[in-house]
Parts: sequence; C-alpha cells; structure tokens
Amino acid sequence: MAVLIDGKAVAAELRAQLRQATQQLWEQRGIRPGLALLLVGDHPASLVYVRSKARACQEVGFHSVIEHLPAEATQQQVLDYITRWNTDPAIHGILVQLPLPRHIDERVVLCAIDPRKDVDGFHPENMGRLVLGLPGFVPCTPAGILELLRRYVGSLSGKHVVVVGRSNIVGKPVANLLYQKTPDANAVVTICHTGARDLAAFTRQADVLIVAMGVPEAIGAEHVKEGAVVIDVGINRLVDPQTGAERLVGDVRFAEVLPKVSAITPVPGGVGPMTIAMLLWNTYRAATGEYGYGQESPHRATV
Ligand SMILES: NC(=O)c1ccc[n+]([C@@H]2O[C@H](COP(=O)([O-])OP(=O)(O)OC[C@H]3O[C@@H](n4cnc5c(N)ncnc54)[C@H](OP(=O)(O)O)[C@@H]3O)[C@@H](O)[C@H]2O)c1
Repeated sequence: MAVLIDGKAVAAELRAQLRQATQQLWEQRGIRPGLALLLVGDHPASLVYVRSKARACQEVGFHSVIEHLPAEATQQQVLDYITRWNTDPAIHGILVQLPLPRHIDERVVLCAIDPRKDVDGFHPENMGRLVLGLPGFVPCTPAGILELLRRYVGSLSGKHVVVVGRSNIVGKPVANLLYQKTPDANAVVTICHTGARDLAAFTRQADVLIVAMGVPEAIGAEHVKEGAVVIDVGINRLVDPQTGAERLVGDVRFAEVLPKVSAITPVPGGVGPMTIAMLLWNTYRAATGEYGYGQESPHRATV
C-alpha cells in the first residue's frame, strides 16, 4: 500500500513552528520578518499565488507588502521597487512573481535583488552557492521537496534520484541539492529533459523519481520502477470541455502509478503547499541573518 506524502500536513506543521518562532523573534529581538511581493500584470495564476503568499505571511505574523504594477509597466519601474526594498530595513525578503511580461528581462530583475534578501533563491549568487555547497538561500520548491523526502524517505545516500526537467526554478536546483555531500542528500542524480531519447529507460531506474515537466499526466506506470518514490511537482489546470470546470492535475497519472509505488505526492496537496512554507522559512532566516553566508545551514553540513 503506497504512502501518500502529505505536503499539506507537513507545511501546516512548519507554519505552526514558524508562528511560534516569529513571536519569539519579536519578543526577544524586536524583529518582525517582512516580505515584499511584486506582481506585474494580471496573470490569473500569479494573482492567486501572490495573494496566498501574502495571506501566509499574515498567518505567521510577518509584515508583507504587495505592489501590483500593470502589464505595461517598464523594467525601470520594477527595478526602482527592488532598489527601494534592498535598502528598506523592514523588508527582509523580496519576491518578484514570475513569469514577467516579455518586455521585462527576468535575468536583469533577479540579479538586481540583494542576494541576502533573495528568498526565492534565484539570484546567481545563491544558485552558485547551491552548486558549490555553500550556505545560501535554496529555491523554495526544491527545498520543500528535500524536506518531504527527509521526512518520508529518510536518508537518500546512494539512492538513484531521476529528475525529469531542467528548469532554473525546479529541475536544476533540486538536482544540485540532492547530490550534495550532505547527510540528507548524497544521492546519485540523473537529469532528463526533452533530449532524452527513451525517457522511460531512465525513469525506470529511479529509486526516487522527481517529475517537473509541466506536461499534464505525462508519466505513467511504464515509467516507474516497482517500489519507487514519486514526487510530482507538476501543477496543470485542465478545463473540462463539456462543463468548463477546471481541475488540477500533476505531471503523473496518479491512479495508474499508485499501485506500483511505495510513496507518492498527490496533486494538489503534495509539493505545492511546501513551496510557500519554505518561502516563509527563507524570509524568517533572512530576518534573523541566518541566510548563512559564512555560516552552516541545515542543508549544508558535510556527510
Ligand atoms: N509545486 C510547486 O510549487 C511548483 C513550483 C514550480 C513549478 N511547478 C510546476 O512544475 C511543472 C514544471 O515547472 P517548471 O517551471 O520547471 O517547467 P518548465 O520551465 O516548463 O520546464 C519543464 C522541463 O521539463 C522538460 N520536459 C518537458 N517535456 C518533456 C518530455 N517529454 N521529456 C523529457 N523532459 C521534458 C523540459 O525539457 P527542455 O529543457 O528540454 O525543454 C524542461 O526542462 C509545472 O507544471 C509547474 O506548474 C510547481
């Protein structure tokens, strides 16, 4: 019987711990973590994500600000907000909701964020730190996946992890996180992408299969080894042509894969809730100065 990896419950537990830690931080040091969120345009999913991030901040006692610019805002307007927040002592974390409109260069914007406030972990300095195994901010979805694996699988040392997807926000950072020589990682990692000629030949070798393709229900029983652990990162909205009703599906055909695996994340309720929980933790760490440049962080101790 497969174990359902309950990201919703783990995220709720992390948020409860954070609420207490935030209270203590205020009482002992007079610091209230602050997160600035910038949204450009009216992408419906982005609106939902930004609002839920702000709501999550409120729940744990953080200060948060949302700036919502129209889709035609200039790159300079975006950079002006970042410059202001970089030096604002009440703001410890800055998050620019992606994707940005096409006329704004995402790389320029992400590079403008002070790496010590880069709670999404997308700045080249934090990405470089991740690759080198140095302390820094780890992107939230990969950090959430590691937390779930730590709780539900335990040691990954020597296990074969296959990651399908090489995006900068999921595939590359999660692969880099899991092969690090750390107690909760130390896995042997294979990365697949559209260049893989026979995807199933790779994925069937996985002890842990992490799927971040953005292709609805692409992975079926034929891709999965008996007893594997499957982490489905995909969030895809399918619209029923008859009723117009929307439903969320992952990149994995859940019902088909379920009888074959030892553990699996559902969609929704698996990886998704962990992303916001890790964003909150990154913001808390930014506020306490534990972003760890020059210090050890939980993901960094050597095996
Ligand atoms: N749970 C969360 O909080 C969370 C967070 C972020 C993303 N997501 C979801 O995760 C999914 C992936 O997001 P993303 O931003 O990483 O997507 P992305 O930027 O579109 O990247 C998709 C990756 O999958 C690879 N791929 C696509 N089709 C493939 C195929 N047939 N065979 C092998 N590889 C294939 C692509 O390969 P190429 O590089 O060769 O094109 C690419 O590297 C999306 O559904 C997204 O909504 C969820």
